[in-house]
Amino acid sequence: MGDFILTEATGISRQGLGWFGAPGVYTVDQVEAWKTVTAVVRKANGVIFCQLWHMGRAGHSDIFGSQPVSASAIALSGEVTAKNHEKKPYEVPRALTEAEIAQTVKDYANAASNAMAAGFDGVEIHGANGYLIDQFLQPCTNQRTDKYGGSIENRLRFLKEILGAVTAVVPKERVWIRLSPNGAFQEMGCADNLETFDAAIQLAASFQVGCIEVMDGLGFGFHKKCEPYTLQRAREQIKLANPQNTTLGFEKRPKKTPKPPKVTAAMQPAKHHGPVR
Ligand SMILES: Cc1cc2nc3c(=O)[nH]c(=O)nc-3n(C[C@H](O)[C@H](O)[C@H](O)COP(=O)(O)O)c2cc1C
Repeated sequence: MGDFILTEATGISRQGLGWFGAPGVYTVDQVEAWKTVTAVVRKANGVIFCQLWHMGRAGHSDIFGSQPVSASAIALSGEVTAKNHEKKPYEVPRALTEAEIAQTVKDYANAASNAMAAGFDGVEIHGANGYLIDQFLQPCTNQRTDKYGGSIENRLRFLKEILGAVTAVVPKERVWIRLSPNGAFQEMGCADNLETFDAAIQLAASFQVGCIEVMDGLGFGFHKKCEPYTLQRAREQIKLANPQNTTLGFEKRPKKTPKPPKVTAAMQPAKHHGPVR
């Protein structure tokens, strides 16, 4: 068997893709372009997953044409690489409305369907490194007072809806997730991260996804706001939530890849995202 490849983070929507020159998987053209990549990997007997990404506040309006969005209106400090590699200060994001959260969940499902139509073997939900999902999980970036903020259960609701939507369109063993409970990158890290990520890992395991990738974060920058989250602790949460322990990792994947579905009109980008980039 050939190698396993995980793509670099790939935008799920125009609004989610805020890095100059990064790939997306939300338009028919992008799906067509990815088909040439997945075909080469398949020919070499390799396996390739697409990492689904919404940058939230870490993007810039120069790239997607509108104010960045997040759980709450809290900006990153420092500078972002905007169009043509120009450095610009991060912008203050606006908090997503509940209706926009529902649309973003649909965008994840749309991107996941597109990825399978493009010939990927599966998807990984990028829930790490201070991007939109992480911005909802951690209270330093989520100060909402509605059902998506406050308690851990509320902060996990966005992720829960995404897991539900993505596992509805991709077989659950082909859905992975990446989390970074220790990461300081993009000014993340909160005092209750042990409890938050216990719950997040249990949540992901309860969906019986194929793999929960937990970055130790110690090399990439540790936030020091609480004790480091250990891999042993992560394994215990998986056992608690998924006693059959079907969340074992990639070696348990089914051998045969499903036939990619046809690209349909439903896979076109959502109208509110404006013109295709
Ligand atoms: C330039 C650069 C690009 C990265 N891109 C991604 C990415 O697209 N998706 C992702 O999950 N992690 C990304 N990372 C994080 C790395 O995958 C990795 O987790 C990090 O460098 C820490 O290494 P370690 O996990 O071996 O400790 C990136 C890191 C760097 C330095």
